[in-house]
Amino acid sequence: MCGIVAYIGDKQAYPIIIKGLHRLEYRGYDSAGIALLSEKLNVYKTKGRVSNLEDYIKKENKDVFSNIGMGHTRWATHGEPSSTNAHPHFSQNQEFAIIHNGIIENYSTLKESLIDKGYVFKSDTDTEVLAFFIEEVMKSKNLNIEDAFRVALKNIVGAYAIVLISKNKPDTLYAARKASPLVIGFDKGYKNYYIASDATPIVEHTKKVIYLKDEEIAIIKKGEELKIIDINNKNSFVKPIIKELEFTLEALAKGGFEHFMLKEIFEQPHSVRDCMRGRLNLDKGVIALGGISNYEEKLLNAKRLIIIACGTSWHAGLIGEYLIENLVRIPVEVEYASEFRYRNPIINEDDIIIAISQSGETADTLAAIELAKSKGATIIGICNVVGSSIPRTTHAGSYTHAGPEIGVASTKAFTAQVTILTLLALQLAYKKNTITKTKFFELINEFDTIPDKIQEVLNFNDKIEELAEKFKDVSNALYLGRGYNYPIALEGALKLKEISYIHAEGYPAAEMKHGPIALIDDKMPVIVIATHNGIYEKIKSNIREVKARKGIVIAIVSENDKDIKKMADYSIEIPPCNEIFVPLLATIPLQLFAYYIAVKRGCDVDKPRNLAKSVTVE
Ligand code: G6P
Repeated sequence: MCGIVAYIGDKQAYPIIIKGLHRLEYRGYDSAGIALLSEKLNVYKTKGRVSNLEDYIKKENKDVFSNIGMGHTRWATHGEPSSTNAHPHFSQNQEFAIIHNGIIENYSTLKESLIDKGYVFKSDTDTEVLAFFIEEVMKSKNLNIEDAFRVALKNIVGAYAIVLISKNKPDTLYAARKASPLVIGFDKGYKNYYIASDATPIVEHTKKVIYLKDEEIAIIKKGEELKIIDINNKNSFVKPIIKELEFTLEALAKGGFEHFMLKEIFEQPHSVRDCMRGRLNLDKGVIALGGISNYEEKLLNAKRLIIIACGTSWHAGLIGEYLIENLVRIPVEVEYASEFRYRNPIINEDDIIIAISQSGETADTLAAIELAKSKGATIIGICNVVGSSIPRTTHAGSYTHAGPEIGVASTKAFTAQVTILTLLALQLAYKKNTITKTKFFELINEFDTIPDKIQEVLNFNDKIEELAEKFKDVSNALYLGRGYNYPIALEGALKLKEISYIHAEGYPAAEMKHGPIALIDDKMPVIVIATHNGIYEKIKSNIREVKARKGIVIAIVSENDKDIKKMADYSIEIPPCNEIFVPLLATIPLQLFAYYIAVKRGCDVDKPRNLAKSVTVE
């Protein structure tokens, strides 16, 4: 959570930082602030969006002339959203200011001791505590800012990505990270440096970046090579590993769509195809997930797989469980990373953990990986953001290659995750002989047609928008499915609640009679994913149960369906396919349905309230 941008170089810092903050707003938008150093160290902060900050600076005619500065967009953890709690936070003597993403866990003990020493806090944030603590280390140990920054951080428990600007060092930025991401871009001759929580604010300026590692401090001096040191040893100079950014600026624009979310929904025929590219080879009749090939034997011999993830990625994990158990016959457990890490799980050295994450930064998933790693398990990552923390900490993995996902509600990253899991399940099933060669070839040939079938489903866009108009004012919704369609019901419900704020629940259809059925009346829309599969007759009974209580049934059915279409009040068709591919198709109308309902309710679809795309706090 929280977005960080900083700049030092020959250009004007303000426009670069503001533009960068807009790109990072998906990480939180409770408040925004900026520090610009010229004659003075000016700090401007406002509650709410980055545009509020811009309006304020314009209206008040604030001085923005500077070649060095830093900005922050906040997702509140300590202290309510307000301009006082907004970053940057000054040291008490106003000599320097910091911006921070993460949580300082020992902030309350530090705060108490600083209060005893006479420090007076203005905000409720843990970040101000850190600023004052650095100042105190500087004073009490008689250290310069660089050493005080390092020594203070050694005493911090928690997670952080920090940038510091000091009045007395107008040509230098100081940055550090532990568990929260930080990327540093630079151009030829080190004339300009760009620092950010992810590469999206950097890509238009340079493609050369380094990803700061945990417990590293960067001393960023204009015109000089980047200096990186280990927090624990001031004399240890770390050699930076320079990476080349792979995505383009065009990939970040809305491309004529009203919202990023809609654009990303419509990108799915391409993103799923991109995810398969080079992996699904019909000519040779093979699937090759290059990033995990060295671990294939281990996967084939695994006694069990544990999938860990959060949110939408966890739903992809559930589909993975169904796919792998069904096709490969290896037991799979799917765990919320936040539960897994704290419940003292049994992890053996021969366990394989599959960690799924769009951002590659989710704090709980990262911590669960570290725990499993410390017990000797092998970790495989499925991530979207190239170079993010999870792919850098796992033993092997596959990128989803869905491209940057900006809408807070995950869409194309989810279908790309499901694509990787389907590829993996098919590859392992083939190698393990749990499906016949003929079946394998039949399935991979069908898999290749799925991107086109996603396009066919997208062609129902107008019909789904009309349906959304009918249901935009409901207060509750129930989503039901069985088998592969159960995780889809969960994901459909999550999409609706996160962007439209309508209460929605996903349930295995047969579980409905153990509780949710009590909620059904003539106002309750029940969205049933009822495609053709082995349990078609069973889901028909569940629909009858809903209809008997006068519930309104919206059914997602296979194109050739006869019976359910007659029973449902409304139906949306998806092209017929093997049941293992249904999640990739049936998800699409549910994403569109949630999107249009949210738009019609006037909700901020790309930035839903209280949410953030990259959850770097636990
Ligand atoms: C947040 C996002 C969700 C996402 C979840 C897990 O809650 O809003 O869309 O599914 O985090 O994030 P990850 O990046 O690990 O997939």
